[in-house]
Amino acid sequence: MTLLKLNIYAVRNIQKESITPAPTINLIYGKNASGKSAFIEAVFILGRAKSFRTSTIKPVINFAQQSLMVTALVSQTNGSITHLGIQLDGKNFFCRINNQSTQKRSDLAYALPLQLIHPKSYELLDAGAQIRREFLDWGVFHNDPNFLSPWRNFKKALSQRNSLLKTRALEQINVWDKELVNYGTIVNNYRQHYLQKFKPVFIEIVSKFLAIDNIDLRLISGWDSVKEFHQVLNNDLEKDLRYGFTHSGPHRADFQLLFNNRLAKDFVSRGQLKLLVMSLKLAQVQLLANEHSHIGCILIDDFAAELDVINRAKLLNYLSIMGCQAFITATEIADFGDLNQIKNYKMFHVEHGIIKQM
Ligand SMILES: Nc1ncnc2c1ncn2[C@@H]1O[C@H](COP(=O)(O)OP(=O)(O)OP(=O)(O)O)[C@@H](O)[C@H]1O
Ligand SMILES: [Mg+2]
Repeated sequence: MTLLKLNIYAVRNIQKESITPAPTINLIYGKNASGKSAFIEAVFILGRAKSFRTSTIKPVINFAQQSLMVTALVSQTNGSITHLGIQLDGKNFFCRINNQSTQKRSDLAYALPLQLIHPKSYELLDAGAQIRREFLDWGVFHNDPNFLSPWRNFKKALSQRNSLLKTRALEQINVWDKELVNYGTIVNNYRQHYLQKFKPVFIEIVSKFLAIDNIDLRLISGWDSVKEFHQVLNNDLEKDLRYGFTHSGPHRADFQLLFNNRLAKDFVSRGQLKLLVMSLKLAQVQLLANEHSHIGCILIDDFAAELDVINRAKLLNYLSIMGCQAFITATEIADFGDLNQIKNYKMFHVEHGIIKQM
């Protein structure tokens, strides 16, 4: 997919801007506080219906306005054109896809697969498991949208079971245990299958940026994997009743990145950590491109803060060969490095929230 036209209203200091991006690389530069991250945030909101900077949408809406809106014309790989639009006022969610309204964020995510690399991205490997679970599930979902239904059913069964644990309604718990085991096992299988396909793609990409051998990615299922999930639920029942929630299951899943069987995040440098995270994100988009003709879009905020000169050149080169659409920000044109190596890029300048193509 490619964003052909993008309209942004009331996103931070961007009042009303309309741009026609390149289908390949788009370089956005401007001084501090000019609106570069606001621009990246606008595209992110269109694909994910949330900000990556704040947990609520209110601070993102321009101070003088009640709601923000981002709309786009997106060409899909089969040649069809999709009209996408999202309007957020801090409470309600209005989304339209080809003039039909939808309340499903997944519809938006499917129409516009996005990956974001920004200065806090290293948290993917450094922070708690939830962010890695979300990352993994993004990949599983885009790889096979059939994942969504068992995933939703699993969530529903989990929430029912947790309510019953609180009221100690033991006889009904058994019924929900069956659902939980059934859908939980399916969710786990999807994740396992995805990670197997993902691993070689990731290893290939990471080897371009880091000279590290013997890399492995390991799924942590969320329960003692020596045992069957139903067995673990039975064993944990007393503990689950005491605390009022389900301790084990795919809702506790995680993945580990290992070098020579050691957890990478425990000994790599901050720069290496960033490169690993970047490679993980690129690999998700690359796998999408390999498996489906459904190519995603890559957003990179603060390019220079993320990478040194050599890796910036490697990344630009990689993106230009990969052929996916990318939006990359920096404070200076020079931060993008030698632009002779890339073709068909567009350059935009941002100042006081106004975006001009150069
Ligand atoms: N809700 C809002 N309404 C209006 N302006 C806002 C709002 N939120 C933030 N701003 C302002 O928008 C401007 C652009 O912020 P942004 O984070 O996009 O800058 P930037 O170009 O990414 O800067 P840097 O290079 O420092 O990262 C800032 O001056 C910021 O204070
Ligand atoms: Mg910024």
